[in-house]
Amino acid sequence: MAIDVSRRVNNRITRYSPGGNLDHTAKLYRAMAAIRHPQVMAHTDRVALLAEKVAQAMGKDTKAAFFAGLLHDFGKIVLPDTLFDGHNISADEYTNIKSHAISGFDILGEFHMFTALCAGLHHALYNRGYGLTIDDFPSGITLPLIKKVLEIASIVSICDFIDAYTHRKTKLKHSPASQGKAQGQSLRELLLAQYPGDANIIDLALKTNCEFAPAD
Ligand SMILES: [Fe+2]
Ligand SMILES: [Fe+2]
Repeated sequence: MAIDVSRRVNNRITRYSPGGNLDHTAKLYRAMAAIRHPQVMAHTDRVALLAEKVAQAMGKDTKAAFFAGLLHDFGKIVLPDTLFDGHNISADEYTNIKSHAISGFDILGEFHMFTALCAGLHHALYNRGYGLTIDDFPSGITLPLIKKVLEIASIVSICDFIDAYTHRKTKLKHSPASQGKAQGQSLRELLLAQYPGDANIIDLALKTNCEFAPAD
């Protein structure tokens, strides 16, 4: 059954009513992305709902997973929209795209540190990933908070990987997903190779992602 992803995301933002002006940040991000980056917004809407469902199935913080999923690619807002128009991405363009993890952390860090850390980490949790490292975490972040950030960022990272694999038209031939695909690996095999300790999250996310499968 088709679902109205955008409407569902808007309803969630209002219903969760998060502190720290996170609802305003989320609405501002979606309003900006809708103008210049509609493909990115459609992707982050799906990742938000997917991460929320996986967190729910695992008994984790669904609100944290939803907002971390929604805002994980915030840094793409400052990149040219031509990078996301579906053409084959060159090595130089891929380097430019990779800057979004740190940009997202830098921008969101001014507003909501937990979500900023998840954005910075979402490409750093797989082999040969990029972005923030734990060494870059600001001082004063407690160990329990680091544990929770890693927990939620892992869910978001895997949901992001799955959504990009199943929906993205832009060809990132230098990315781990494209290289694994070229070697004939299934999505599950690819995920297990990239996130060897997270089979539980992978299987829950793959099962849930069927709901968001492209129509064609
Ligand atoms: Fe990303
Ligand atoms: Fe993403």
